[in-house]
Amino acid sequence: MVEAIELRAATEDDHEGIDRVIRDAFGAEDPAGGEKVGALWPDVRASGHVLAEVVAVAEDRVVGHVGVSRCWIDARRTLVDAAMLSPLSTAPDAQGQGIGTALVTAAVRASEELGGPALLLEGSPAFYGRRGFSRGSTHGLEAPSRRTPDAAFQVVLHAGFEEWMAGRVVYPEVWWRHDSAGLRDPDLAFLEELLAREFPPPS
Ligand SMILES: CC(C)(COP(=O)(O)OP(=O)(O)OC[C@H]1O[C@@H](n2cnc3c(N)ncnc32)[C@H](O)[C@@H]1OP(=O)(O)O)[C@@H](O)C(=O)NCCC(=O)NCCS
Repeated sequence: MVEAIELRAATEDDHEGIDRVIRDAFGAEDPAGGEKVGALWPDVRASGHVLAEVVAVAEDRVVGHVGVSRCWIDARRTLVDAAMLSPLSTAPDAQGQGIGTALVTAAVRASEELGGPALLLEGSPAFYGRRGFSRGSTHGLEAPSRRTPDAAFQVVLHAGFEEWMAGRVVYPEVWWRHDSAGLRDPDLAFLEELLAREFPPPS
């Protein structure tokens, strides 16, 4: 339990705290997952594709973080600049207090202010579906990899989105360098089965 939480745009001074909270959050259940996402985000930063970073701070400690970075939609007419939300992290001792929800709201707002047409992500439809996201495929948006289950590839559309902006989403090279698009077996097979049961394709 943490108290007096402030949400604000991250500064360079927060980078160490951010990298720690990512490793702690993703590593809580799976140390390898913590290492993987913990190594990815500093490289996304170094690649120059970060669009926004918001931190939740309590008593000078970063207890939550969300990253928004660049991706593209490979539409028939043109390549469209868009944004993706990843990663989202709350420190294990600060979870369940609404920090993750507040960070998602901040990421949606930040991406809207940047003027892009959409904020995309790969994640739990149970969590993000209750926070304004819907299936990308219902808007003609395809995940960069077939290894992302359809129900997990989600989007919030902004005012600038137009119907012709349908197509496959493209991630910058750094996500591939870290093998961070979609999932791989056996996690993929497990999640596909779970999602097919709980989130069947819309009829
Ligand atoms: C997911 C996460 C950011 C939520 O942060 P939080 O500050 O606890 O979020 P809130 O207090 O606003 O909301 C808690 C919600 O998280 C849900 N939640 C926690 N872990 C979850 C998980 N692995 N998958 C889906 N939902 C999860 C809870 O069920 C609750 O949802 P509900 O309110 O809709 O019932 C946090 O659990 C975390 O950092 N997890 C590890 C990293 C991760 O999985 N990030 C998301 C990747 S897409």
